[in-house]
Amino acid sequence: MPDTGAASWIVAVCSQKGGAGKSTLVMSLAAAVADSAGRALVVDVDPQASTADEVDKMANPGFDVVHELDPARLSQLSRVREYDLILVDTPGSLEGRDVLKQVVDNSHFALLPYVDEPFSYDPTQRTAQVVQEAGVPHAAVVNRIDSRAGADGLTEARERLDEWGVPYFASFIRQYVGYPKSLAANKTVYQWRGKYSAHMREDISRVQAELQRALGRIASGG
Ligand SMILES: Nc1ncnc2c1ncn2[C@@H]1O[C@H](COP(=O)(O)OP(=O)(O)O)[C@@H](O)[C@H]1O
Ligand SMILES: [Mg+2]
Repeated sequence: MPDTGAASWIVAVCSQKGGAGKSTLVMSLAAAVADSAGRALVVDVDPQASTADEVDKMANPGFDVVHELDPARLSQLSRVREYDLILVDTPGSLEGRDVLKQVVDNSHFALLPYVDEPFSYDPTQRTAQVVQEAGVPHAAVVNRIDSRAGADGLTEARERLDEWGVPYFASFIRQYVGYPKSLAANKTVYQWRGKYSAHMREDISRVQAELQRALGRIASGG
């Protein structure tokens, strides 16, 4: 883990499961920081640079984005101290495993978006193992909770994470078509106005607040 003094916080958003919601969470959290007048940087380490491309299409996202293929350069970015939060979008494929390790080694915290479905079980546990081995503080964020299905979905997701010994945030993200829709409209979730957009911002703001508290605990050595 890099220094926690005099540096921008670096948070790796990772899951070796494609479609877990990494890119969505990275862009949404950066927009949340911007919404509260903070400075956020999104670092896209995926060779395909799809997140960087999407952000480039937004007229005024309120945060910066770079495409950086060398994870070792993250600590240099951090030392610039220009940002309140640096969010790293990591590749989701097995080929990206070495990149994932390097990014995690250069991060203060790792967030693991988790969709509770059988195809996620193995990749999530593998990702958690990489993060645990690196000794980086981390938490899963349960994603795509169907609010019409009651509390069962959330309870089951948490039970599974407990079973695996993976810590998770109390805050979680509900499933809304507004995520792909806002992206298609080239807007952040804080700019987009549509059905349930206030609910989306509520969820993301809670995750951001919980993340800030977790980083605060790291800063105070606990
Ligand atoms: N909470 C959510 N509700 C609805 N759709 C979501 C949610 N999170 C992610 N998605 C959608 O799921 C798809 C995959 O998400 P993405 O962020 O690209 O995952 P990853 O980067 O992990 O591959 C995208 O179409 C995205 O809009
Ligand atoms: Mg992605």
